[in-house]
Amino acid sequence: MSIQIALDGPSATGKSTVAKNLSKRLNYIYIDTGAMYRAIGLFYIKNNIDYDIEENVLPHLDSLNVSLKYENGVQRIFLNDEDITDSIRTEEVSRAASVVSQYLLVREKLVSLQQEFAGRNNVIMDGRDIGTVVLPNATLKIYLTASVEERTRRRLKDYQEKGIEMDFLDVKKELEERDYRDTHRENSPLKQADDAILLDTTELSVIEVENKIVELLNKKVGNIDEKI
Ligand code: DC
Repeated sequence: MSIQIALDGPSATGKSTVAKNLSKRLNYIYIDTGAMYRAIGLFYIKNNIDYDIEENVLPHLDSLNVSLKYENGVQRIFLNDEDITDSIRTEEVSRAASVVSQYLLVREKLVSLQQEFAGRNNVIMDGRDIGTVVLPNATLKIYLTASVEERTRRRLKDYQEKGIEMDFLDVKKELEERDYRDTHRENSPLKQADDAILLDTTELSVIEVENKIVELLNKKVGNIDEKI
């Protein structure tokens, strides 16, 4: 039977870093569902369509083809056959993804794709609704949190590494706005699944979080085979 790890939580809690590293350690497929919402958001930005209005978004959805490919185990994301992996990590795309992810038809389209990608593989999937909606029977469900100050520091560090200087309070405000939108939307709001394990990462390093998850997985499924 395949093993599915669902990793949910608000922005900048370290979900994708942890998921990426664990996918290598365990030799599982990593599926970054946020990237798929970002792909949809990017389409509306590029085409100058006001995505804050749901009626503007819906007519284009059927023509949008989001797909994932793996190069040396690293996920690349394509929108209508264009590799957009390197264009989706901006504040503008973060906001657009958070806005379009509120719309039911956007969610339905991406959730069925995500379930298809998960298929019968061993996967680690990160997002907001993985444990609640996408993989309700996941082997292990983890809900990551961290204080908003710590998350702001982590996001600032990501930007600094890309040579972008940002203001602490601006980044904090943007994170709080996204948290609010993601937890208060009508369709599949971000929330901890009843059977998910809460991990507060404020005081934990990436490797400590990874080790904790491996420990929890071992408890669930017995000794797992690590690759490194
Ligand atoms: O994880 P991320 O920051 O790349 O996600 C971008 C946005 O996409 C996030 O603000 C909310 C939305 N999202 C979602 O609604 N459901 C998911 N499973 C993943 C992301």
